[in-house]
Amino acid sequence: MQSYKIAVLPGDGIGPEVMDAALKVLDAVGKMESVQFEYEYAQVGGCAIDETGSPLSKETLQMCQRSDAALLGAVGGPKWESLPQDKKPEQALLKLRGGLGLYSNLRPAVVFPALARASSLQEEIVSGVDVMVVRELTGGIYFGTPKGADENKGWNTMVYERHEVERIARVAFDLARKRNSRVCSVDKANVLDVSQFWRDIVIEVHKDYPDVELEHMYVDNAAMQLVRTPKQFDVIVTGNMFGDILSDIASMVTGSLGMLPSASLGEKYSLYEPVHGSAPDIAGQNVANPLAMIMSVAMMLSYTLDLPQAGAAVQEAVSKVLEAGYRTGELFQEGDKLVTTTEMSELVIKKLTQVRERVA
Ligand code: IPM
Ligand code: MN
Repeated sequence: MQSYKIAVLPGDGIGPEVMDAALKVLDAVGKMESVQFEYEYAQVGGCAIDETGSPLSKETLQMCQRSDAALLGAVGGPKWESLPQDKKPEQALLKLRGGLGLYSNLRPAVVFPALARASSLQEEIVSGVDVMVVRELTGGIYFGTPKGADENKGWNTMVYERHEVERIARVAFDLARKRNSRVCSVDKANVLDVSQFWRDIVIEVHKDYPDVELEHMYVDNAAMQLVRTPKQFDVIVTGNMFGDILSDIASMVTGSLGMLPSASLGEKYSLYEPVHGSAPDIAGQNVANPLAMIMSVAMMLSYTLDLPQAGAAVQEAVSKVLEAGYRTGELFQEGDKLVTTTEMSELVIKKLTQVRERVA
């Protein structure tokens, strides 16, 4: 039997709950596809700090390196907020991204028909939205040096090297070819030298993709356009910090931050995690929305494990559960059926079985 090793990093807050829910779905996929998933667990983030003093140990990084893929829940919480910058739980994520070379972060923002009315924007503006945010993940101001702070000054450096822009631009153009062949590169070239550099390189790379339409947008305008007419976008490619911000905006267009999965990919390794954070205010109550984590598992099946049909089936099962009116608390509106984290996962599994029976 084909077997895959999955590094499981539940993390803090609602991380462990949504991870449990998603692994149950993955187990169901395993049974259906006759493949085996072996899970190896490790702590990352705040819980790892409490246990070992460090948000990410060398052993945990190595565990990810010998796995076929890694799944991460969420890290962080108020308990660790006052720690110095280099000791915070968030460092676990940055070290994983850097250490595994995960330079490309795919954050699809898709509006499910059943959720169009849950968005804070008007239904006709959001229905049919399908945007792929391609965020550069191992460069830019998150990783640039010099950085630091003293009593009178704080500083970071936004820097991009040619090869970093070239490879993320290629990821975006290649993805666009499989979608609607449009790329919007987002920068701040009217102010920042690093952004003008970014733009010039994207234009150069684009010469290899004459079939793909390329436009450029300043980040402030892109933020505005995303809430004004989100349907104008197909693939958005941008740097680390702009991508962080724009993907949160894109998520709210879809109705809930609890709905957005992500894939972080490099040459050798991959990590899948929800875009949402650890939501400490609702942790441990079995009310968190597990769908972003479940759809992150779907992305893993499609992108890394070469089980694209299983990935598509999970995605379809999620859509069916939403169509049937089931919602976790943050999405609940009058007339919906309110369910817990575990119930949502069970519902997805049930639909998955039906979807698979139909396909088989
Ligand atoms: C994200 C998060 C992280 C980021 C934090 C937790 C380090 O907001 O994945 O979007 O800023 O990249
Ligand atoms: Mn973020």
